[in-house]
Amino acid sequence: MNNNYTIAPRVLIETYGCQMNVNDSEVVLAILSKSGYVLCKEVSLADLVLINTCAIRDNAEQRILGRLDFFRLEKKKHPSLVVGVIGCMAERLKEKLLEHPAVDLVAGPDAYRDLPRLLESIRATGSKQINTLLSHEETYGDISPVRMDAGGVSAYISIMRGCNNVCSYCVVPYTRGAERSRDCESILREAREVIDAGYKEIILLGQNVDSYKFGDVSFAKLLEMVARLSPSVRVRFATSHPKDMKDEVLLTMAAYPNICKHIHLPVQSGSNAMLEKMRRRHTREWYLDRVARIREIMPDCAITTDVITGFCGETETDFEDTLDLFRQVKFDAAFMFQYSERPGTLAQRHYPDDVPPEVKTARLEQVIALQGELSLESNRRDVGKTFEVLVEGFSKKSASDLMGRTSQNKACVFPAAGHKTGEYVTVLVKDCTPATLLCEVVE
Ligand code: 5AD
Ligand code: SF4
Repeated sequence: MNNNYTIAPRVLIETYGCQMNVNDSEVVLAILSKSGYVLCKEVSLADLVLINTCAIRDNAEQRILGRLDFFRLEKKKHPSLVVGVIGCMAERLKEKLLEHPAVDLVAGPDAYRDLPRLLESIRATGSKQINTLLSHEETYGDISPVRMDAGGVSAYISIMRGCNNVCSYCVVPYTRGAERSRDCESILREAREVIDAGYKEIILLGQNVDSYKFGDVSFAKLLEMVARLSPSVRVRFATSHPKDMKDEVLLTMAAYPNICKHIHLPVQSGSNAMLEKMRRRHTREWYLDRVARIREIMPDCAITTDVITGFCGETETDFEDTLDLFRQVKFDAAFMFQYSERPGTLAQRHYPDDVPPEVKTARLEQVIALQGELSLESNRRDVGKTFEVLVEGFSKKSASDLMGRTSQNKACVFPAAGHKTGEYVTVLVKDCTPATLLCEVVE
């Protein structure tokens, strides 16, 4: 750890977890760029490796521990390499992570401004450094994230940090702290910057966007202000909470063609008993009513969800309620997980994790199979329709095909025919798989 840099030090940032973490890595890069670091993509060339981590489920953490073992070996080849763990797992495990032989630095999600000082201390003293203080104010509002995909199509903009919901299964309120909304002027400034830089899509991020509040600016108002900046730039957002999602937001979405017609509305369970234990603070009936309202105001809006199988005490009947809710709503897509007990959460302290792992897995497989059918049905309903898609790049399967997304966030694949990334193209859906609409370009 005795680095005397003659050229700019190089940082490699590996990101795990959600979109918010991807955006946080861009904030970290902005902070480190100011102190002279340049981004690099290869471990063998890096002076500093930062692993931006996720703590949401045990398997996310196990993967990162595996990566740390890999970096321990890298450090044997390259002893001056500094390895830092940042993000949610850093916040959860704190000093315990410093015991790992590969780890020199631990910094939580609200400590990124302190990274240059921590790195300087490591360089000056050779000792490990940590900062896991959470803040009630930090939003990194004045920092313009340095995007890692320069020339990309979509830019994330965080509009708030933290979470005040305390769902009983969830570690996020402990790893990301209390909810705070970012100054709306700084959000608009950043939105103008990304539009000027040529981005075609803005994705507004928050753990619970519906509770955004800055002065008298609500989420609906903010969404409208961002949508009005440029009619040719799409606006998306995530994540909505069913208990807080307001009609005002739905009406704003309906009023602006450039606000994408897609709502990610995690349900977690279709059983009222489970929703109560999960401390979601809404019922199945409330959720179904919100879905009905979305469809009333925007019949073409896609709805996607998150669900957990095998939460504490989940019976076969509770799980049937989840399947039934899926059939009733007919989600366009879903992220599906089996329950993973997280230390320190309300559920871990109050309820036994009593659904056997094989039952959790079997239920997960069942809901995945059901969603596969529902996704296929949803895509079949689009065959014969035309959509405007924003081209994101080449298709993974064929270099002569492009991939673009509809406003509903469905992936369309079609022959490139001279079209380019970042363009809007009108396509006709000819066929589909559960995951993709197979299209041709309409002149
Ligand atoms: N176990 C399994 N899944 C979880 N999620 C959050 N906490 C847990 C947990 N302890 C899921 C929820 C959430 C998504 C981001 O991750 O479905 O919406
Ligand atoms: Fe994102 Fe939650 Fe994972 Fe943190 S724990 S990275 S907030 S998904």
